[in-house]
Amino acid sequence: MSHEEDHAGTRRDFLYYATAGAGIVTTGAVVWPLVNQMNPSADVQALSSIRVDVSGVSAGTQLTVKWLGKPVFIRRRTEEEITAARETDVSSLPDGLARNDNLPPDAPATDENRSFGETGEWLVEMGVCTHLGCVPLGNAGDFGGWFCPCHGSHYDTAGRIRKGPAPENLPVPIAEFVDETTIQLG
Ligand code: FES
Repeated sequence: MSHEEDHAGTRRDFLYYATAGAGIVTTGAVVWPLVNQMNPSADVQALSSIRVDVSGVSAGTQLTVKWLGKPVFIRRRTEEEITAARETDVSSLPDGLARNDNLPPDAPATDENRSFGETGEWLVEMGVCTHLGCVPLGNAGDFGGWFCPCHGSHYDTAGRIRKGPAPENLPVPIAEFVDETTIQLG
């Protein structure tokens, strides 16, 4: 099978993931296959924008979608999780930058700079540990956000690295709400 045919298959996967709602939830620590680290070809780049129905995601849970060959976590936070993230002193963080593609590169890692929605209810983050690329586990770790068991990195409820070898916060991709229950990635 040629690469082009491969990508045609991938496209169906994207559409499936994009419309499957909360049924697709990734658990377990897996290393994302190496093939996903290759540069996307032109036909894949043409699919660089997808819409995700988040109406089935309840507070305290997350949806994982596959986008451009990588997992993206879409998490609906509880009030407690938002409060914990907002009360954190940014100057105490290992990585003080927001790492949010929707903001300037020097934007600070405040919770407001990493969340979506009027109340900051939503997080949209690449589900790839910034250490060596494992997929962190949700609702886990010392800070209640994500835990990467590969080498023990703990992320908080804003996806910011708090403890362990990962050097940076989980990246926030280009994303926006196009209506109340639909997030567009890319
Ligand atoms: S890959 Fe996540 S801690 Fe090493």
